[in-house]
Amino acid sequence: TSAPTSANSAVAATATAIVNIASLVTNDPSLGDGTPLGLIQDAAVVIEGDRVVWVGESSEAPGTDNRVDAGGRAVIPGFVDSHSHLVFAGDRTAEFNARMSGRPYEAGGIRTTVAATRAATDAELSANVARHMYEALRQGTTTFETKSGYGLTVEDEARALRIAGEHTDEVTYLGAHIVSPDYADDPAGYVDLVTGPMLDACAPYARWVDVFCEKGAFDGDQARAVLTAGQAKGLQARVHANQLSYGPGVQLAVELDAASADHCTHLTDADVDALAHSSTVATLLPGAEFSTRAPWPDARRLLDAGVTVALSTDCNPGSSFTSSMPFCIALAVRDMRMTPDEALWSATAGGAAALRRTDVGRLTPGARADLTLLDAPSHVHLAYRPGVPLVTEVWRKGLRTI
Ligand code: NIG
Ligand code: FE
Repeated sequence: TSAPTSANSAVAATATAIVNIASLVTNDPSLGDGTPLGLIQDAAVVIEGDRVVWVGESSEAPGTDNRVDAGGRAVIPGFVDSHSHLVFAGDRTAEFNARMSGRPYEAGGIRTTVAATRAATDAELSANVARHMYEALRQGTTTFETKSGYGLTVEDEARALRIAGEHTDEVTYLGAHIVSPDYADDPAGYVDLVTGPMLDACAPYARWVDVFCEKGAFDGDQARAVLTAGQAKGLQARVHANQLSYGPGVQLAVELDAASADHCTHLTDADVDALAHSSTVATLLPGAEFSTRAPWPDARRLLDAGVTVALSTDCNPGSSFTSSMPFCIALAVRDMRMTPDEALWSATAGGAAALRRTDVGRLTPGARADLTLLDAPSHVHLAYRPGVPLVTEVWRKGLRTI
């Protein structure tokens, strides 16, 4: 008997069939080889409009007018990058240089980007978001979350979110990135601003509320105030947690049913246990550890405890200026003890879980037709051939965009 494929159904003659796929990652364990990736060999994907309507073995693909030959390449779901900071201006080359000469990374570097971002025009900021999202798209990313956090005034935060919303639906209010330099002597006053007038101005533009819970940024009580105020306004929580040191971020994320605790670099056993018994995803951001020469988050420890793990870029000009999910996958496999299969799952289905989305991060009937063709026989090559531009074709919402 052959491995299960999706139910045989009639498809419109106008549908598009991508055939001759060497290996297809569906992320549906009821399909194909029965692993979490639901891998189908010699596969086809059929697309109608912006949706997948059929997946299975190429020889069984329903007839359609339009057939695209994948040429024996691998096909994976488009990457879901659930953590980035793309509304910024300027760069931090000097800070990176200093760090690579031995200076430690500190949250305070954010102030440099705040000054540059405030000084930029709307058009400059929007063009910068578009440029980095296109850069990511060329590397296979089809869903992006992005945050404010480099404005830190009512007007500049609302502007950042409005601009982010021109480019993606996954918009996060991070007024609590650091205490604004304007409130250096009055952090409590800044938390009142973030949970009051700034939130009122920003909530209409955002789906999520986030806070940088860290020494030098916001402590546990301040972070709780920010997140619960956002939730009261209808935003859902996600947290920058346990990046630079041990702290209360992860447990707070779990307590408040945040969709994700991001970074998770310094975890106690109690933190891991809390995540394992929650619906909060641990989003690991190895670009940040790479670019700050910090210790790697231990993905193996989290996976073995039963935690759902996502991988994202954290693309920002300070701690992780990469938009490349393939690069993050390679780091995760080499240095965070993930298998290539786990890393691929975390960069697609894991990211979708971190955004509480079921329409992306998988290639099964009903899912959004977001997919990436790799110039390789399987997804394993993303880690096996690090740094090689394997993404050759990207389809988003049923259209070939790259
Ligand atoms: O996720 N941790 C806080 N925020 C960013 C860094 C931002 C910056 O350095 O500009 C991060 O790593
Ligand atoms: Fe971040």
